[in-house]
Amino acid sequence: MKILLFGGRGFMGQQFLSVYPDAIAPSVDIADAPAVIRTLDEVKPDIVINAAGKTGKPNVDWCEDHKIETIRSNVTGPLVLLEECGKRNLYWVHLSSGCVYSGDNGGRGFTEDDPPNFYGSFYSRTKAWSEALLREFPVLILRLRMPFDKAPHARNLIMKLKDYSRILDAENAITYLPDFLKAAEQLIAKRRTGIYNMVNAGAISPYRIMELYREIVDPAHTFERLSLKDLSGVTKAGRSSCIISPAKLMKEGIAVRPVEEAVREALLALRHS
Ligand SMILES: NC(=O)c1ccc[n+]([C@@H]2O[C@H](COP(=O)([O-])OP(=O)(O)OC[C@H]3O[C@@H](n4cnc5c(N)ncnc54)[C@H](OP(=O)(O)O)[C@@H]3O)[C@@H](O)[C@H]2O)c1
Repeated sequence: MKILLFGGRGFMGQQFLSVYPDAIAPSVDIADAPAVIRTLDEVKPDIVINAAGKTGKPNVDWCEDHKIETIRSNVTGPLVLLEECGKRNLYWVHLSSGCVYSGDNGGRGFTEDDPPNFYGSFYSRTKAWSEALLREFPVLILRLRMPFDKAPHARNLIMKLKDYSRILDAENAITYLPDFLKAAEQLIAKRRTGIYNMVNAGAISPYRIMELYREIVDPAHTFERLSLKDLSGVTKAGRSSCIISPAKLMKEGIAVRPVEEAVREALLALRHS
C-alpha cells in the first residue's frame, strides 16, 4: 500500500509518519498544481494524506495578517488535491479542525452535520470553507481539536498550557493523538469518506487539565483562571471554544476513550519523562 503524504515535515505530518513510516513525503506545494500532478504521476500512490496547511506561527493570529498564504495552503491546495485525486480516482484524506464551532450545541455537542457557527478567526474560516467544498466529494475529512499527547514537545496542548499564567476555564472537546492515530488508521483501512469528529469522549477545560497537571506532574505549578469573556482581550483573532461529538466515530465501532482518562495517561507519562 503506497501512501503519499503532503505536509510531512509538519507536526501532524510527523504524527502520520509514525504510523506509516514507509509513506512517501516529498516537499511539494499543494497549491502548485503542476507540481502536484507530477508527484501523483511519479509516485502513483494508493492513498494520499494531506497534512499540509497553515495554522499560524506562533499561533492562528498569524493567519489574520497572512490571508493570501493561508488561503493558498488551506483552500487552494485542498482544491488542487480534490481535482487531481478525483481525476485519478485516488482515495484521499484531509485534515480539518473542530474549531469551526462555538458552544456545546445545547449540551449535545456538534455533529458532523451541524453547519459551522464560529467565524471569529481567519484560520477557522478557511477550514470551514475547504470542508464545505470537500464534503461534497468522497474525501475522508478528519476534524481534530487542540491535540495533546505524552511527549514533552512544544506542540502538545499540555506543554502549551503549562507555560501560560492564565488558563481558560471553559469545557472543550480535545484530541488525544495516540487515540486519533489509531482511529484514523481504522477509518483509512476501511476507506471511509465524509467528515469525522476525531475527539475523545466528553469535554474538559484547560483549567481542569492544569489542575490535573499540578496533581500528577508538578505540585508547585501555579496558574490563574481565565474566563471565555476575558480570552478575547488577550488574542488578536477569536478562539473557538466548543464541544463536538465523536458519536459517529463510535458508531463505526471505534473505541473512543473518555477525555479525562486520556489526559491522566498523558500526564502520568509526562511525569516520568
Ligand atoms: N495542530 C493542531 O492544533 C491542529 C488542530 C486541528 C487541525 N489541524 C490541521 O492539521 C493540519 C496540519 O497542521 P499542523 O499542526 O501539522 O501544522 P504545521 O506543523 O504547521 O504543519 C503543516 C505543514 O504543512 C506545510 N505547508 C504549509 N502550506 C503548505 C503548502 N501550500 N504545500 C505544502 N506544504 C505546506 C508547512 O510548512 P511551513 O511550516 O513551511 O508553512 C508545515 O510543514 C492543518 O490542516 C491544520 O489545520 C491542526
